[in-house]
Amino acid sequence: MASYETILLERRGAVALLTINRPEKRNALNIQTRREGAAALDELREDESVRVVVVTGAGDKAFIAGADIAEFEGRTANTQREVMLGRSLFTAVDSFPKPLIAMVNGYCLGGGCELAMACDIRIASDKASFGQPEINLGIIPGGGGTQRLTRLVGEGKAMELILTGDIIDAQTAHTIGLVQMVVPASDLEAKTMELANRIAEKSPIALRLAKEAVRIASRSNLDEGLRREVDLFALCFSSEDKDEGVRAFLEKRKPQFKGR
Ligand code: COA
Repeated sequence: MASYETILLERRGAVALLTINRPEKRNALNIQTRREGAAALDELREDESVRVVVVTGAGDKAFIAGADIAEFEGRTANTQREVMLGRSLFTAVDSFPKPLIAMVNGYCLGGGCELAMACDIRIASDKASFGQPEINLGIIPGGGGTQRLTRLVGEGKAMELILTGDIIDAQTAHTIGLVQMVVPASDLEAKTMELANRIAEKSPIALRLAKEAVRIASRSNLDEGLRREVDLFALCFSSEDKDEGVRAFLEKRKPQFKGR
């Protein structure tokens, strides 16, 4: 396992926990954190024992309070563009083939909210808060926020949040569809691990194909999406896991998926 300075990586059976570890800076994403986060995801992608990844922030205050604002000072437009067009943490999350769960334990702002939105499922503590406050700095979301928030909550609500920079609580985030579940802070880890372990028991091949199929929905038109779903569905039939799943059902037992 590689060693990192600004993130923590822990394996708990089939679930890996990736923690952004700069609590004194509310886990703000600086260049090093982004680089290490992307490298950790590369490592987890190759690790067959890992079936689900949970992303969270260290400490009890923040998930991620956004990009490291200190790095913006004095930066030119060209440098910023180069930083963002390189392989970013958001790209690494977006292209990660295994299920990713954002365990949102506190402030989930700016790039933090964008990172959570790039994950597949968001589960939040009742103490968490969400927002895209970039407008208050004279900038706009640049880690996918304008696109992903709009797809998740609709144009009107996305406009309201992005144009005002307002911060909303976890319950409101749940009501508008930004998070899937809100739980008491003391239960967050247990509930997240329960969810992660439940998903980790499924066939990793079917998980990957299901994830790919769902993600196509917001990136293509319906005809194209339906056609690709058929291809991905058919591809499941080339796996031993599909034979095992069907056989286990007929034999009235629990399937043992091997990822083959
Ligand atoms: N970038 C850089 N540093 C940040 C940061 C960020 N996004 N968010 C917090 N920090 C730093 C603070 O500067 C402070 O550093 P210091 O102790 O060296 O002064 C430290 O983290 C603690 O922050 P503080 O504001 O004292 O904590 P808080 O708990 O009272 O408030 C927030 C937390 C998240 C509400 C507040 O820090 C904040 O508004 N952060 C910026 C959020 C933002 O605009 N994100 C979008 C960026 S594009």
